[in-house]
Amino acid sequence: MSILHLPGLIDIHVHLRDPGGTHKEDFATGTAAALAGGIVAVLDMPNNTPPVTDADSLHAKLAAAEEKAHCDYGLYLGANESNADTVFRLHAEACGLKMYLDQTYGPLRLAQLSAVMAHFRRWPAHLPIAVHAEGLVLAGAIALAQAHNQRVHLCHVSRAADIALIRAAKERGAPITCEVTPHHLFLTAADAKRLGPLGYMKPTLGTAADRDALWANLDVVDCIATDHAPHTIAEKGGENPPPGVPGLETALPLMLTAVHEGRLSLERLVELMHDNPVRIFGLVPPDSEIEIDTTAQHTISRRGLHTKCGWTPFEGMLVWGQVRKVALRGKLACRDGDILIPPGFGQPLRRTA
Ligand code: DOR
Ligand code: ZN
Ligand code: ZN
Repeated sequence: MSILHLPGLIDIHVHLRDPGGTHKEDFATGTAAALAGGIVAVLDMPNNTPPVTDADSLHAKLAAAEEKAHCDYGLYLGANESNADTVFRLHAEACGLKMYLDQTYGPLRLAQLSAVMAHFRRWPAHLPIAVHAEGLVLAGAIALAQAHNQRVHLCHVSRAADIALIRAAKERGAPITCEVTPHHLFLTAADAKRLGPLGYMKPTLGTAADRDALWANLDVVDCIATDHAPHTIAEKGGENPPPGVPGLETALPLMLTAVHEGRLSLERLVELMHDNPVRIFGLVPPDSEIEIDTTAQHTISRRGLHTKCGWTPFEGMLVWGQVRKVALRGKLACRDGDILIPPGFGQPLRRTA
């Protein structure tokens, strides 16, 4: 047995579905899944029903989180075509602004460049605008970041060309950061074929060459984020399956497996899953520690998952590393997968001045 202590991890990209989709996940089950995976704080996306685009929807969601969350949390505001003149006023209560520049799950797609530019003019330049943008749209997002000197965070980068462009833009000083997901690092289109709708998300899984390019360019990646996007098995098996896969409980074992295989250093793992999230979003990290048995091997299974959706696209994968204990603000929050703190223990993340 080899025990390792790390700071509690921070996942900057999750969809906990509360409100509007609580049959898929809610703040209680989603944050329990986070703790079981060694994650002590999550940044939750705004594509709810209704979407989080104004004070009422933000405050309703904050109230739901305050009541139910086991771990700490921050909430994104969503940009739409008509809230550029109002949403920026709420920036102090949010972790960032999210813009959907490509079609994906939910109602927040922005189609008009004029609306996008209006948000860029208003949103405080020091706070990130997180964008869902792929391919040529990603190139547009980088151009917007440079033109407005606005910090832009590029979500779930998945393609060789996209990461190559990010490298070039960063080398020229573009004010951008980016994240990759474990599913784009560990799965490919071949797995999507095998998994059917359970392997469908946006961005879709790439080729083996795309996956390899993400690993080869990990030095320009700022964060690993799960894009935890649960949908029920029934929805996934339906006529028009929604995109998205859960990831909170599998991210750390997968990344520890990469460490075990020598593809990533432990120092870099902590940068990607703790230090850079703190830096990019200006967070006060929660006082926390996780204890991992790095020599424990296990096979990923839907059994024992805390996520309400009850499945994982990584079913059957053999991974290294098991989270034994999670301490949050002086309390033992999770031991061997058992959640030991009540809903409502989680607090809103604070930002440094
Ligand atoms: O696969 C995805 N699912 N990609 C997204 O961008 C949204 C997410 C969701 O909310 O289900
Ligand atoms: Zn997205
Ligand atoms: Zn997402």
